[in-house]
Amino acid sequence: MTSPLALLGGAPAVIEPGPHFSWPLLDGRTDKAVLDQLHRSISVYDRSDVVAELENALQEYFGVRHAVLTSSGTAALHSTYAACGIGPGDEVIVPAYTFLATVTPLLHLGAVPVLADCDATGNLSLSDVAARITPDTVAIMVTHLWGIPADLAALRQLADARGLLLLEDGSHAHGAAVAGRKVGSVGDLAAFSMNGPKPLSAGEGGFVLTNDDEAYYRLLLHGHYNKRCRSEIPGEHPLHRYAVTGMGLKFRIHPLAAAIALDQLERLDSYLIGRVNMADYLCFELGQLPGITVPELALGTRAAWYGLPLTYVPAELDDLPVERFYDALRAEGLDELDRPGSTCPLNLLPLFQDLGPLFPHHPHRDRIAYRPGQFPVAEQLHRTTLKLPVWHREEDVPLARQYVAGFRKVVAHHHDLKDNS
Ligand SMILES: Cc1ncc(COP(=O)(O)O)c(C=O)c1O
Repeated sequence: MTSPLALLGGAPAVIEPGPHFSWPLLDGRTDKAVLDQLHRSISVYDRSDVVAELENALQEYFGVRHAVLTSSGTAALHSTYAACGIGPGDEVIVPAYTFLATVTPLLHLGAVPVLADCDATGNLSLSDVAARITPDTVAIMVTHLWGIPADLAALRQLADARGLLLLEDGSHAHGAAVAGRKVGSVGDLAAFSMNGPKPLSAGEGGFVLTNDDEAYYRLLLHGHYNKRCRSEIPGEHPLHRYAVTGMGLKFRIHPLAAAIALDQLERLDSYLIGRVNMADYLCFELGQLPGITVPELALGTRAAWYGLPLTYVPAELDDLPVERFYDALRAEGLDELDRPGSTCPLNLLPLFQDLGPLFPHHPHRDRIAYRPGQFPVAEQLHRTTLKLPVWHREEDVPLARQYVAGFRKVVAHHHDLKDNS
């Protein structure tokens, strides 16, 4: 039997040579910013130079009182938890479906991550969070998966009603907003990654936002000892006497990374406007096809579209397995179509099933023993998620059209795949 599908010998739908997506976009302006910084200073010990410039710009962009730059998003998350005083035995409710670094710093603090399932959006299920609150719960951490804001208003209300901290991992969602309020400005503290592909990229880096002065001082003491603590923590504050040592960790960002991020931050909103248009186009086209469900955003929501998560619905394509559907799309030349790997339900990872060999001294290791099957919504969603990049430039529209054509073709000829499996 012959088939037009590329997997079965036909011509691929996407003819554009790769790579089809590269991020961040660097140009002569970025080169200049990095070179200028290279010759100005490559070690910034206090809140000055490019560190102050970028932190000021982040404070203004997010409308918050303090921003603290860090060497990575993982470091930002670690400092966030530490600054809240979270420690042995404290329970923090975290999304089961997130990247592992949202949660791993808790293990280093002896705390107990309590995983909660998501709803159909991929973000935390409010009812599951509520059901997991115990007398040991101190905080709720929320990820805005793939850049789509979680229900922050409801989570804020729940946290306030139960006397809990609300923390955000905004690593996928720089510039995303709900009702004009930016993600990262609602939680008591919010941590962000600026790793390579993130909507705001420094190559490597991160930051924490807070409106709370005490949390700010503790963030500094956690990862920015000496000069910065000495100048930023008021002399009369009881913590000032620890300024020289802090807690002894160093989580400072590299000034060249800060220079890249400062250059990118000025362009972030224009990138996001382009992404919103592209996501509208892709959702409109792909949402009409059987077998695919596109995300639906609550009214007044702006997503950062770190990725476009599509949900595959096999029942609408004669139960064609997702693996076969994905292979057929990739064969059509959709090189950037992805099945998420390390961002996955954490209960599927050995680290969250058996801490023992890696954290033998964790005082509550027996309470962290997750098993596959415990988070059915997250696990099903993860199994069936296909992720596309969201381009932002006009010149990427022809490529996006070819990707859409690839989907249409595979959906139209999916019977051929069953016959040839
Ligand atoms: C949701 C989330 N949180 C945290 C991180 C960790 O950030 P970093 O890689 O900058 O340490 C990532 C990185 O991919 C992430 O996706």
